[in-house]
Amino acid sequence: MTKTTPPVICLDGPSGVGKGTICLAVAKKLGWHILDSGSLYRITALQVSRDFPDQPVDSLDTAKLAEIAKNLNVTYEENNGELAILLDGEDITQQIRNEQIGAKASQIAAIPEVREALLARQRAFLVAPGLVADGRDMGTVVFPQAVLKIYLTATPQERAQRRYKQLKEKGIDANLSALVEELRLRDDRDMNRKTAPLKPASDAIIIDTSSLNIEQVTNKVMQLVSQRVV
Ligand code: DC
Repeated sequence: MTKTTPPVICLDGPSGVGKGTICLAVAKKLGWHILDSGSLYRITALQVSRDFPDQPVDSLDTAKLAEIAKNLNVTYEENNGELAILLDGEDITQQIRNEQIGAKASQIAAIPEVREALLARQRAFLVAPGLVADGRDMGTVVFPQAVLKIYLTATPQERAQRRYKQLKEKGIDANLSALVEELRLRDDRDMNRKTAPLKPASDAIIIDTSSLNIEQVTNKVMQLVSQRVV
């Protein structure tokens, strides 16, 4: 009997484009697993800031950072489409979502040894019946064999505006132009790094979400899924 690999759908794109939300919605509709690959870089960033408080990433030894990434004791718990992330048993789901951790994750993600250290862990998420994976290099590096690769885009202004709205709704003070600037910096770092830069895979389908809401994007993705996958 030949062993077949379960199917994987990749959703790549820049920060704040809504990949996580769409990934959850699509996985829920299909009854598949999810991989929020950015969370692994964020968890590494959290562990690094705990191990080396107040030390800039570029002052740290890359082999040490890779070792931290490799040895993370992380568990993901999926409950009705909600994801809880545990580090050494502690729920850190919310802690890794702030802008400082995001910026640090983006710096750490530029280090090839760290990316290599997280590769096997990401691939291990691919189990039956299938996986919806979101990130920056899902279609280009981690799952080049994916049955469907989608690249989501939106202008930095639009993404910052969405983030601004989310923060305001949570009662968190935010500055729109600072958010645009942060996104530009993060895009620049993620798109221009040497290893696995953010770019659409040559066989990816590009969806510009600037004028679409979550439901419209989810429907577009599901249309592609029904044409090409199930
Ligand atoms: O998707 P996110 O904002 O949670 O990701 C945080 C950072 O991690 C992002 O700025 C770049 C990095 N990242 C990456 O390099 N490759 C991935 N597959 C996912 C995230």
